[in-house]
Amino acid sequence: MLSKILKIRIFDIEVTNHCNLKCKFCPRDNIVLKGFMSLETFSSFLRNTKLKSTDSLSFVGLGEPLLHPDLPRFVKMAKEMYPHVTVWITTNGTLLDVELLHKLINAGTDVIDISFNGINKEEYENTMRGAIFEDVIKNIETAVCETRGTRTKVQVNSVITEENKGNIDKIKNFFREKGVERFQIRMLHNRGGSITSNSKRLKDYNTCWIFKIITFICWNGDVVYCSNDTNRTRIIGNIKTDTFKEIEKKKAIIIRNNLWLENCHVCTDIWREKLPHYLDKKIVEECAYRFIRVVTEIKTPIKKLMKIRSNDQ
Ligand SMILES: C[S@@+](CC[C@H](N)C(=O)[O-])C[C@H]1O[C@@H](n2cnc3c(N)ncnc32)[C@H](O)[C@@H]1O
Ligand code: SF4
Repeated sequence: MLSKILKIRIFDIEVTNHCNLKCKFCPRDNIVLKGFMSLETFSSFLRNTKLKSTDSLSFVGLGEPLLHPDLPRFVKMAKEMYPHVTVWITTNGTLLDVELLHKLINAGTDVIDISFNGINKEEYENTMRGAIFEDVIKNIETAVCETRGTRTKVQVNSVITEENKGNIDKIKNFFREKGVERFQIRMLHNRGGSITSNSKRLKDYNTCWIFKIITFICWNGDVVYCSNDTNRTRIIGNIKTDTFKEIEKKKAIIIRNNLWLENCHVCTDIWREKLPHYLDKKIVEECAYRFIRVVTEIKTPIKKLMKIRSNDQ
C-alpha cells in the first residue's frame, strides 16, 4: 500500500555480469554477452532518468558489482546529481576490503547488502562456490564496525529453501552477534526457469510486481524484462538513447497487454506477487530504525545532562 502510494521505483544497474564466484543456484554462467558498464553509459542513465527521492538505485544484476573499478565513482556521480536517492550495492562481500569499503562509504552508499548463504563453513562454501567463509565473515564484521556513525548501513542477504526455511532465526542470530541489524531473507526461486529448483509454483502468472517496480539495466545500457532473461531476448530500449519516460511507456504497454516472456510464465519468484508487501514492511522497519536512532540520540545528551546535574548537587 505505502509503496504504491509513494510510487516506489527501483533501478537495478548491472555494472558488470562478470563474477568471481560460481554460486550453486545462480544462472549467471548462461549469459553469453559479458562486459562492464562504461562511465558514459552510466552518465546517460543519470541524464535520461529524472530520479525522485522515493527512487532507489541498486547496483546488482547477474554479476559481482565490486569487480567494477569505477563503482565508487558511479555512487558518487549518482549522489551528486540526486542526493536524496537511496543507493544500494548487493555484493558477495569477497572483495570488500577496508580500502574499498571507505571509498564506498565516502561516495555516499546508503546500503551495502552482503549475500551470505549458510551459517557454517561447509554449507556456505558448498553454496557460494569460490568464497572463503572466514574471509567474508571478517569483511562483514569490518563493514559493521567501519560504517558505525556513517550514513552507510550493512545488511545481510540470505537465500533460504523449503528445506532450511526453519533456520531464519538461526541465521539472524548468527549475524546479530556480529553486529548486523538489517536482513533480507529471500526464498530460492528458479530465476524464470533458468535453474531447476523445487520452489513452489505461484498462483498468478498474469502480473509481475518485479517488472512494475524494478527496471533492469544491463551493463551495455539495454533495458530488459529482468535479470532472469539471461539470453536478453527482449530488449525494451537502451538507456543511452531513450529517456526513461519512453521506456516507462513501453513497460506500461507490456503490462497492459500481458506481453510476458516464456521465462515469466514459469518464474517462481514470490516477489512477483509480494514485492509491494515486502517494500511496505521495509519502509515501516526503516521508520522504526530512524525513530529508535533519534530517541537514542536525544536520550544520550539528556542522560549526560542529568548526570552532570546530580554531580552538581
Ligand atoms: C545474482 S546476485 C548478484 C550480486 C552479487 N554477486 C551477490 O551475490 O550478492 C544478487 C542476489 O541474488 C541472489 N540469488 C541468486 N540466485 C538466486 C536464486 N536462484 N533465488 C533467489 N535468490 C538468488 C543472490 O544470493 C544475491 O543475493
Ligand atoms: S549469486 Fe552473485 S556471487 Fe554468486 S555467482 Fe551469482 S552473481 Fe556471482
